[in-house]
Amino acid sequence: MNVLQVSAEIFPLLKTGGLADIAGALPAALNAAGCEVRVLLPGFAPILADLQSGEVLAELTAPWGERVALRHGVLASLGVRAYVIDAPHLYVRAGTPYEDVQRQPYHDNHLRFALLGWVAAKLACGLDPSWQPAVVNSHDWHAALTSAYLAFGPVQGRRVASVYTVHNLAYQGVFAPIHFFDLGLPTHAFSVNGLEFHGQLSFMKAGLYFADHITTVSPTYAREIQTPEQGCGLDGLLRSRAHDLSGILNAVDEAVWNPALDAAIPYGFDAQKTAGKARCKAALQQELGLALEPDAPLFGVVSRLTEQKGLHLVLAALDALIARGGQLVLLGTGDAAFEAAFKARAFSYPQAVSVRIGYDEAYAHRVFAATDVTLVPSRFEPCGLTQMYGLKYGSLPLVHRVGGLADTVVDCTLENLADGSANGFVFDDFTPEALDRAVRRALALYARKSEWRAVRQRAMQQPLGWDKAAAQYVALYLRLLA
Ligand code: ADP
Ligand code: GLC
Repeated sequence: MNVLQVSAEIFPLLKTGGLADIAGALPAALNAAGCEVRVLLPGFAPILADLQSGEVLAELTAPWGERVALRHGVLASLGVRAYVIDAPHLYVRAGTPYEDVQRQPYHDNHLRFALLGWVAAKLACGLDPSWQPAVVNSHDWHAALTSAYLAFGPVQGRRVASVYTVHNLAYQGVFAPIHFFDLGLPTHAFSVNGLEFHGQLSFMKAGLYFADHITTVSPTYAREIQTPEQGCGLDGLLRSRAHDLSGILNAVDEAVWNPALDAAIPYGFDAQKTAGKARCKAALQQELGLALEPDAPLFGVVSRLTEQKGLHLVLAALDALIARGGQLVLLGTGDAAFEAAFKARAFSYPQAVSVRIGYDEAYAHRVFAATDVTLVPSRFEPCGLTQMYGLKYGSLPLVHRVGGLADTVVDCTLENLADGSANGFVFDDFTPEALDRAVRRALALYARKSEWRAVRQRAMQQPLGWDKAAAQYVALYLRLLA
């Protein structure tokens, strides 16, 4: 089964968050499950640079008159066949894929990402005579217009199934309505039964409305987004599509996240042999100038510093955590206020708190390897990957019971300890007090060395690989094509 995967990011070439990890892991996972996956990506500089034998497949004129080239080749770092939109004036810019260096969204984001969906629909409709996808799976708002262009395009009897995967409903790609007229879609597409959202143009809504099927990245989040609390204004539409909406839990790319083979960490370890983990912890404490105490429980945060991630709870509970002998290592970047608040804490507690502002893939691996607990107190979390990386690296996750966090972490209650299902710490109320109680549970277990080791060993052995999710995607695709 030929599958075209459409996304704005892909690990290891371009990553601002978990979307890239998933887009990077899915092709190999689906290929192993019997698909033939090709990816379509915007021609950001690192993607074009990685594309080998990238012949021009077609020269195209976008609906708004822009001339672009579509290249086809192989992404060397992934070994995956890729179509890349070569349009340097749109994609090769200083800043992130979405924002300029002043952290302002680019003024033409609607065109930059409409192009992605428009080209995807062209490929679905036979643009490459040598390869025809049966399924187009587009990811997040950047690729969401795919299904709208397919819905209004010339399908000519060919059945292409469209799947739209929501990684985060909070980022919607909403633009002023005037921009609708650039897109080349029929006027009636701009209606409540289409791309219109409170008078604005919404890419997210296009995906939710027109895709044959919607997936999101955990079963719990699939339920949560159908409620007014978590529906970001789209819960009504999502409820109306409940039969075409399902949650497929993300997984871990074990070729990238494996503490036994990880070249980014100083000492390897696994569930049976954990001496390397203790050495990773000592090495990081030493490097960061933290008190060199092997028995000080070391908490870690690797996160975008945004409202979503609930890190104000960590700030509120930090004094108590330190008073109880804990240490904290944070790696993150994002809102200036969070950056400043965490840096101030590191300044106040140089022996107990270390804060690195920035984006550093290799350092993230070292944090998971060194820490005892990974903190993920998110307000909402579609799936969350860092709690799973924590599990793999023996850094037990401490999480708020939402979304994919609820689906992957089992609290260390006495009964869960007794039946062997416990793998971390979960709190319900979104308050500093509830987080603090979970921290105290973690410290209590940490003090019982043999029990801690037993829970950690089971956590590290938990199957988190892609086989299960890949089988679920394939089953979904087959059902849609039937
Ligand atoms: P989200 O996609 O909402 O940011 P996820 O938990 O799904 O959350 O994925 C985050 C990904 O980004 C993980 O791979 C995590 O290790 C990585 N990450 C987040 N912040 C940083 C950072 N500052 N440096 C390096 N990696 C980071
Ligand atoms: C989004 C979500 C995160 C999820 C990731 C990958 O960025 O915020 O929860 O893990 O996508 O699906």
